[in-house]
Amino acid sequence: MNTSSASLPGGTWTLGDSSVTRFGYGAMQLAGPWVMGPPADHDGALAVLREAVGLGITHIDTSDAYGPRFTNELIREALHPYPEPLFIATKVGATRDAQGGWPTARRPEDLRKQVHENLGSLGVDTLDLVNLRMGDAQGPRPGSIAEAFETLVDLRQEGLIRHLGVSNVTAEQVAEARGIAPIVCVQNMYNLAHRHDDDLVDHLAADGIAYVPFFPLGGFTPLQSEALSRVANRLGTTPMSVALAWLLRRSPNILLIPGTSSLAHLRENVAGAGLSLSDEDVAELDGIGH
Ligand SMILES: NC(=O)c1ccc[n+]([C@@H]2O[C@H](COP(=O)([O-])OP(=O)(O)OC[C@H]3O[C@@H](n4cnc5c(N)ncnc54)[C@H](OP(=O)(O)O)[C@@H]3O)[C@@H](O)[C@H]2O)c1
Repeated sequence: MNTSSASLPGGTWTLGDSSVTRFGYGAMQLAGPWVMGPPADHDGALAVLREAVGLGITHIDTSDAYGPRFTNELIREALHPYPEPLFIATKVGATRDAQGGWPTARRPEDLRKQVHENLGSLGVDTLDLVNLRMGDAQGPRPGSIAEAFETLVDLRQEGLIRHLGVSNVTAEQVAEARGIAPIVCVQNMYNLAHRHDDDLVDHLAADGIAYVPFFPLGGFTPLQSEALSRVANRLGTTPMSVALAWLLRRSPNILLIPGTSSLAHLRENVAGAGLSLSDEDVAELDGIGH
């Protein structure tokens, strides 16, 4: 499959042994409502995935829990055999119940099963990156992650995983994981309005570890702020574009995985993230999350 040679906003970052575009794509929005069931527009979902790769994006974030299974199966249908530069990150640590909840599943046997489910639904022999998702829907929870993380280390040693990361974690849990095995990224909630991880972002940047914010646009509750709208109006663009451009500028180790089920939004986000923000714009935007 051909990919665009045009460079994307933010350039590239080295994740483990792979160079990926800092502008990536989060696939969660492709499933049905509340990330359950198939998409209303199957062909539209395939078109979004193919356009992402066509635009030159080489980093897709997913999980077999999305749908469940449906999102990974869409990725496989749209993109398999995967073009060489494409890097697919997935996550384990939660499953789905009939009500659409996300019950945690982190015993060794649960994690092993989820890794095999991801391998099967994505159609690969080795997963590029598996994030161990901890905490719950309210955010990270304190406590040791050693047993679960060591299970993923074992699966990596068995050749089923190339790289490891952690998600929805505290700074202490990041340190605990790094004491057990190398990680290439941390995936936590972070955006213009939620900046509790500011210190962690900087700390990881100094150590060459990626920080991948989930809900970069606010997730199920899109970012809204007077200052954000003011800056967007001044620059003649959208609040979403400003939010993405701010993240790219915030730190070189930040990788974007904005989610969308819309071709128009995907194109708008790629174009918008390349926006140049002045120091004055950034100072105004920094006021939102402080
Ligand atoms: N590790 C974790 O625990 C965790 C948790 C949540 C998410 N994630 C990952 O993070 C990725 C990103 O999170 P997310 O998708 O939930 O949230 P997000 O990227 O913050 O926001 C997605 C929402 O923004 C809308 N949107 C996107 N572009 C837009 C635009 N240009 N204009 C207006 N609305 C726009 C989308 O709607 P449309 O579809 O209509 O564009 C969707 O409702 C997910 O895809 C997933 O891979 C990880």
